[in-house]
Amino acid sequence: MSDQPLKAGALFAGIGGFCIGFGQAGIKTSWAIENDPMSVLTYRHNIKDVRIIEDDAVPASIKDVTVSAYDLEPVDILHAGFPCQSFSQAGERKGFEDPRGKLFYEILRIVADFKDKKPSVIVLENSPHIRHGEGGSWFIELTKEIKKAGYWFRDANCAELDPYVLTPLPQKRNRLFMVAFSTDRFRNGKLNFPSQKNDEKKCLENYIDFAGSIDDDTYYLSEENRYHNMITQEVEDKACIYQLRKFLVRVKEPGVCPTLTANMGLGGHNVPFIHDAKGLRKLTELECLKLQGFPSDFKFPDAVIRSKLYTQIGNSVAAPVISLLAEEIKYKIYKERNDA
Ligand SMILES: C[S@@+](CC[C@H](N)C(=O)[O-])C[C@H]1O[C@@H](n2cnc3c(N)ncnc32)[C@H](O)[C@@H]1O
Repeated sequence: MSDQPLKAGALFAGIGGFCIGFGQAGIKTSWAIENDPMSVLTYRHNIKDVRIIEDDAVPASIKDVTVSAYDLEPVDILHAGFPCQSFSQAGERKGFEDPRGKLFYEILRIVADFKDKKPSVIVLENSPHIRHGEGGSWFIELTKEIKKAGYWFRDANCAELDPYVLTPLPQKRNRLFMVAFSTDRFRNGKLNFPSQKNDEKKCLENYIDFAGSIDDDTYYLSEENRYHNMITQEVEDKACIYQLRKFLVRVKEPGVCPTLTANMGLGGHNVPFIHDAKGLRKLTELECLKLQGFPSDFKFPDAVIRSKLYTQIGNSVAAPVISLLAEEIKYKIYKERNDA
């Protein structure tokens, strides 16, 4: 089988969850577009040798990038975990009417910009609700645009992938992955999405030290805090995670971490709590990072403040899920090349 190395381009790169997962499958990222300077700091601190697209040392918005002006290298795979706020069930659901939703069209503009060197594969990630919202009309629009760009794409090119099912990670995080294949380079658009259930026992204690404590008291809720009592009443004698809602405490089933979201960066009580040997405390950024499956040597630069770290982690994808998906895509590309 041809083993010519594959290259990827990253749109909406965040702190590099996609890039790490593809890298683990042996697919190097050639360049990345991410317009949040703090996310770029974290990305650069950990992922070397990737060209971040910038304008006068300022990270560029996808809206300002053209292939020719920035001399973007053609890539085999283009991935884009595009902003999901306008498509998720929790938000205002303005879909493609919302400026963040409109960013979807920027992906296909860049693809078209590559002309005859367009990527062989496009990988998109978003909220599962994008498939069903507005009575399915969002998905019809998305499908129409991807096909118009010259790619095989239909419902079977989508799969909801959850690290809780596919990997040893104890986080439930169901996300929709959409993979389109160039009609010029593939005879069909079929893909075997990762589906093998991971049977390893989930062990939240491997990610969070429930029996110990941490030195930094700023993570702990003081007894005077009005939420302290609310959570204490719910505390169970098991490895549980507690989420605060306005008037209630949601107790997650033992051993399960709920989806870590970007709104963790909005303030203390949006971060899930645990009860450890010293008291009630928020999950730390490093615990959250581990629950997203990032490698143990991934580090945050000092310049990034705590709330931004939580946002960056919640915005990210679970790297081990991407790694599984990347292996399937790689297999399909090489098979097509060898069968040709
Ligand atoms: C859901 S996150 C993507 C996570 C990422 N794909 C990963 O691998 O973990 C969306 C990212 O898009 C970035 N973003 C939003 N608007 C953008 C724009 N106009 N240009 C470039 N990046 C943008 C945000 O800062 C955020 O980091």
